[in-house]
Amino acid sequence: MTMSMAASQARGKKSKDCIFALNSRAQEEAKVLGKDKVINGTLGSIMDENGDIVFLKTVEQEYLNLPRNEYVAYAPIAGLPEYLDAVVKECFGESKPDAFIEAVATAGGTGGIHHLVHNYTDPGDTVLTADWYWGAYNQICNDNHRYLKTYRLFDEQRQFNFASFKEETDAIAASQENVVLIFNTPGNNPTGFSLTDEDWDKVIEYVKELVKNGKNKVIIACDVAYIDYSGEKQTVRRFFKKFSHLPKEILAVVCYSLSKGFTMYGQRVGAMLGVSSEEEIAKEFKEVNSITSRATWSNICRPAMRTMANIVNDPAKLAAYEAERNEYCELIQERARIFAEEADQVGLPCLPYCGGFFLTIPTENSMDIVEALAKQHIYVVPLGHGVRVAACSITKAKMKGLATTIYNTMKELGSL
Ligand SMILES: Cc1ncc(COP(=O)(O)O)c(C=O)c1O
Repeated sequence: MTMSMAASQARGKKSKDCIFALNSRAQEEAKVLGKDKVINGTLGSIMDENGDIVFLKTVEQEYLNLPRNEYVAYAPIAGLPEYLDAVVKECFGESKPDAFIEAVATAGGTGGIHHLVHNYTDPGDTVLTADWYWGAYNQICNDNHRYLKTYRLFDEQRQFNFASFKEETDAIAASQENVVLIFNTPGNNPTGFSLTDEDWDKVIEYVKELVKNGKNKVIIACDVAYIDYSGEKQTVRRFFKKFSHLPKEILAVVCYSLSKGFTMYGQRVGAMLGVSSEEEIAKEFKEVNSITSRATWSNICRPAMRTMANIVNDPAKLAAYEAERNEYCELIQERARIFAEEADQVGLPCLPYCGGFFLTIPTENSMDIVEALAKQHIYVVPLGHGVRVAACSITKAKMKGLATTIYNTMKELGSL
């Protein structure tokens, strides 16, 4: 390119979204060969056992039968109040922290991550997350002139690597005031790993110690996009209670999404929840993030917020919705189990899966493996240090034998 019209800070930005590119290739091939001949494990959307995208019936029914006004009217910038109440209820379940809590509607979980980075770090600051992370974190940081740094998620035993987390957090705390830590748990994308309650205890104890220095403030951000597909409802929410009575220098921010839990990916609805022991800090959270909403997308999709609020605030609808969603949760876990057990039998390495939409095979040769698999009509996603397989979208029948095929392919390429 000889000339750029973009301002200097925007020049050279380029997306290499290989997930959507691979998905297109898989779809094109399915048109030619037939759906049954192609395995598409690229996208993070739930497909049923016929390979069709799932829209939970209970959600669809509510969404399509709203009063006319709900489809066309603006919503308040911070979100519909009934929606925000429903988010607090549904996100925390029985483990609502004993603290001041404020919620702001966001454009998906993505919007919450954006506001978190934008409002709780300074330009040039560094944000910390685990080395197995969702790529959008890096894009959001870079687009806001921040840096993303990582610690090693796993230790030798493939458990949470607290030592690495602590070392990297200490390093950031030494050079900037606000330390933003992003956890993607339960059901991490891409590995399916979840922190245990004991891991959380260690993290919180350490952060409490850290802020005693009187210099740092810590924002513990938790991206719970996959919480509804990560195990028993109340069990996977227990860790939220640990956000009770934190020192005022620690703010917990939970980024919640309707994309997966309510199968409304395209509606772009989520929320961020600020949890603090200080009322003023919670109020500030509401203010600063609402203003950033106003300054980016204004308000979000009203009918999707209304749909969720109507379901959560009606016990019968909530029960029907949860029963339906749980069936898909179990289906995804079953698919993951088929893959993981077979991987174990044939000797294919696989990172510890606890829940969520994806499994990951660690490898340094992901590009070659993905291309070799594509030749066999299998589409999965290359990562920097692994290959991601979408349990949310591969049917049980297609899961059978998949670990063996990947094993054989890696063996042929000398990658095992
Ligand atoms: C780790 C993670 N966080 C958050 C999201 C949020 O998605 P959305 O913006 O659609 O709510 C996703 C979706 O892929 C994700 O994988």
